[in-house]
Amino acid sequence: MNTEYIHWNPEQGYRREDLRRAAGILRSGGLVAFPTETVYGLGGDGLQKNAARKIYEAKGRPSDNPLILHISCRSELDAIVKNIPAKAEALMNAFWPGPMTLIFEKSGAVPYETTGGLDTVAVRMPAHPGAQELIAEARVPVAAPSANTSGRPSPTMAEHVREDLDGKIDMIIEGGSVGIGIESTIIDLTGTSPVILRPGYITREMAAQVAGSVKMDPGLAERDHSVRPKAPGMKYRHYAPRAAMTVYEGSIIDVVPAINAGAAAYPADRVGILASDETRHCYRHGHVVAAGSREKGTVANGLYAALRQFDRLGVEVIFSESFSGEEKSEAVMNRLLKAAGHRIEFLPK
Ligand code: TXA
Ligand code: MG
Repeated sequence: MNTEYIHWNPEQGYRREDLRRAAGILRSGGLVAFPTETVYGLGGDGLQKNAARKIYEAKGRPSDNPLILHISCRSELDAIVKNIPAKAEALMNAFWPGPMTLIFEKSGAVPYETTGGLDTVAVRMPAHPGAQELIAEARVPVAAPSANTSGRPSPTMAEHVREDLDGKIDMIIEGGSVGIGIESTIIDLTGTSPVILRPGYITREMAAQVAGSVKMDPGLAERDHSVRPKAPGMKYRHYAPRAAMTVYEGSIIDVVPAINAGAAAYPADRVGILASDETRHCYRHGHVVAAGSREKGTVANGLYAALRQFDRLGVEVIFSESFSGEEKSEAVMNRLLKAAGHRIEFLPK
């Protein structure tokens, strides 16, 4: 398949005919990758069974892993969910449009192909103007997982989407780098109180301010594998670079020499070191990549691009600093530890 490329940018938006063509592809059951404020999404008509099947095929994704429906306006919600709990209203008022996905009971309009066989459906209203315009023009809820091959880090630039999906989908919208860099916070509203199934930019504390008590899914607990996460996607090893990665947990004063010692055991071109802008110069052996700045809080932003860069460099082993205690650290550490397959080295205090 020949993948068509079109552009969106914050100043000019889309060319009118490009937008129309992209929406036309979605309406006729095709696939379009597009930027959102979190990561790039791989969109298809969420109400067409065949579009959902094509999404799973293009990503190589297990079909029991449900998709998120993206809407551009609150009124589009009523047709796809059964009922809207009061706490959902409060959360939507506070955080939509934005990086928050809510789980509702699904209506009959949503096919089981989209929800991976579940009676619930995940819905998000993205804040990215290019995503909003596309969804509005398509006039259908757009099912969109992250636009990566299943198991690889989510795409934060159009170039990442091209790496994984060129030739497999109808269109890729090039819209520059995304703003946030990790996927939306998922909150389940089908139980008695809201539960976070995937941590993200909207933290538990932020959600609790408008929805009262908000719990974390016990299945997210880092080292407890006896409880399965409720979001099917969270059980897969995911976000992963090809090399084996270990995260060094401790104060940075101890972490730097420990990583230097570990790295020295390998030939320099085989080793990757995941650092921050503030510490990148502390390492001298191996390929050093900074995810972002601890001080400016931009680690979430560059994390996935850094993981992909290690794949390009072809390193065999990665030593990573820990980013716990930084801004949005819950979401960042969730992704980082999954990428590391939960290999973690605790340094003595
Ligand atoms: O920021 C995001 O959410 C991005 C952009 C493109 O919007 N999308 C995204 O989609 O991350 P995806 O498919 O990569 O991740 C969706 C996650 C998976 O872990 C899936 O298991 C979970 O949402 N999920 C979807 N529907 C669900 C449901 N009904 N119940 C529980 N978990 C669900
Ligand atoms: Mg994903």
